[in-house]
Amino acid sequence: MAKIPSFIALCNTTLWLDSATNLAIVDLNTFFLPSMFLASIGLGLLIKFTVNSLRKQTSVSASFPLPPGPSPWPILGSIPDLLRNKPSYRWILGLMKEMNTEIACIRLGNVHVIPVTSPDLAREFLNKQDTVFASRPKTMATEYLSRGFLTAVVTPWGDQWKKMRRVVSSEMVSHVRLRWLLEKRNEEANNLVFYLHNQCNKNSLCGGQVFNLRLLTRQFSGNVIRKMIFNKRYFGKGREDGGPGTEEIEHVDSAFEVLSYVYAFGIQDYLPYLRWLDLDGHEKIVSRAMGVVNKYHDPIIEERIRQWTDGTMKNKVPEDLLDVLISLKDEHGKPLLSTEEIKAQAGELILATVDNPANAVEWAMAEMINQPDILRKAAEEIDLVVGKSRWVQESDFAKLNYVKACAREALRLHPLAPFNVPHVSISDTVVAGYFIPKGSHVLLSRTGLGQNPRIWHEPLKFNPERHLMSKDGSGVADVDLNEQELRFISFSTGRRGCVGSQLGTAITIMLLARLIQGFDWSAPPGESVIDLSESANDLLLAKPLFAHGKPRLDLHIYPVE
Ligand code: HEM
Repeated sequence: MAKIPSFIALCNTTLWLDSATNLAIVDLNTFFLPSMFLASIGLGLLIKFTVNSLRKQTSVSASFPLPPGPSPWPILGSIPDLLRNKPSYRWILGLMKEMNTEIACIRLGNVHVIPVTSPDLAREFLNKQDTVFASRPKTMATEYLSRGFLTAVVTPWGDQWKKMRRVVSSEMVSHVRLRWLLEKRNEEANNLVFYLHNQCNKNSLCGGQVFNLRLLTRQFSGNVIRKMIFNKRYFGKGREDGGPGTEEIEHVDSAFEVLSYVYAFGIQDYLPYLRWLDLDGHEKIVSRAMGVVNKYHDPIIEERIRQWTDGTMKNKVPEDLLDVLISLKDEHGKPLLSTEEIKAQAGELILATVDNPANAVEWAMAEMINQPDILRKAAEEIDLVVGKSRWVQESDFAKLNYVKACAREALRLHPLAPFNVPHVSISDTVVAGYFIPKGSHVLLSRTGLGQNPRIWHEPLKFNPERHLMSKDGSGVADVDLNEQELRFISFSTGRRGCVGSQLGTAITIMLLARLIQGFDWSAPPGESVIDLSESANDLLLAKPLFAHGKPRLDLHIYPVE
């Protein structure tokens, strides 16, 4: 998908990535032509930058300052600092702490990046001025995952985004559609406990088994969305014991790999004219991982479109979301979506679904195993509401406030990503007395909001009770995972807010509730507690969560097939 300008190819430059240093190495014999080329780009950019800067001296920008931030270099802005200080999000948050500010402006290339760590300011952006900040940046990774910006989540403001957001919200994740697909979600919830129970029987260790809960949680989310979209759990032969096959592991791992490079401060996203060099190697990784995801999706989608168009599916009613996407019609009775749009949207929804529920439940389980009282209370709630003779259903969720509070606390304290999906301003504006130029990338810090000590008492403590009190302090709250006031980011809010909150909640709560209902959990034999260290490069647990699970219900309750 990357477009390499043809004149670069003519230069016959020899470039490769040094795996040790991650630097691009240039063959000196062919250095001259590219250097000339780069110099001319540099000159062109300098002129463009100067003209742009002059143009930006509008009356608004003259009256209000930009938010505070490091002094930028010409052309590059703070990219040299960004490259020196990894991971980038820690550098940005550290910088804001040093400057004692909850809003900053960091220029990267020609882009004003505006990180925000306070809920009050977040509301200014996404509640009060939601219309101004309703676009998304175009980046290398999102171009791959959306097949050239054809989808709902990452596509910038415009008709294509409106069309696809409408398709997703009213045709894929509406209440009616989710009710229609309930049986498929139940099959996967039953398969989860079937698989876990199978493993305990097969290789019993102290009456149970040690499980890799990162693998389990990711595979459960993957199973649910695969079943809903493609009506299948397995791409390949599958496994009789309900566990993931090699294909499913590769599929979900590749999805996570793509996700880890989406909005990952890649140089090419701020200096797009250098994209062909792939200096940080991101493009190679993303295109490979996206290739793996597509390798599984594309043949299924192409075959199904063929069946719908060649008459094989005559009089057939849709059975899954892929059928729905294919059979949507425009006002002239023609297919509403092209093959590319169907492929892009199906792929994006899989990515949008696998990550947050899995991460929230992995962290929740790790925290709860280390605080057995919390785990016990959650199990007691389930026993009280559901009993021990049947499995938790989605219809029970309304009464499972403590379990929901645990999931909500995991989303607050351990968000999947350091920042919310970026919002881009579509015009110049002023927020909290600061000038925010058109095209700025606003990054709401998920940890900055969710762990803000002005808002949260003992912010680093996993304490689900904090969500149980109603806002006026008068009684027990009806807990849900939404947080409209942006005191932390769960589904966010406004025009670009998540349209999948009902499904996201269903997957997260079902996963957590079934794990707790069906099994007693503890640290693996020989370990007294779970190590809760966060990874050095992202917000995941540093090591995948391994925990010992032991069946806690009567044998006959566990599904047998
Ligand atoms: C626990 C699970 C989930 C969480 C925590 C979550 C969170 C989010 C967040 C934070 C955003 C960005 C909001 C913003 O830009 O301010 C978002 C956007 C979005 N999510 Fe989710 N999500 C979840 C599950 C899902 C699911 C299951 C779907 C659909 C299958 C979905 C579909 C979308 C879409 C389409 C958008 C983009 C909306 C737009 O840009 O117009 N999400 N989600």
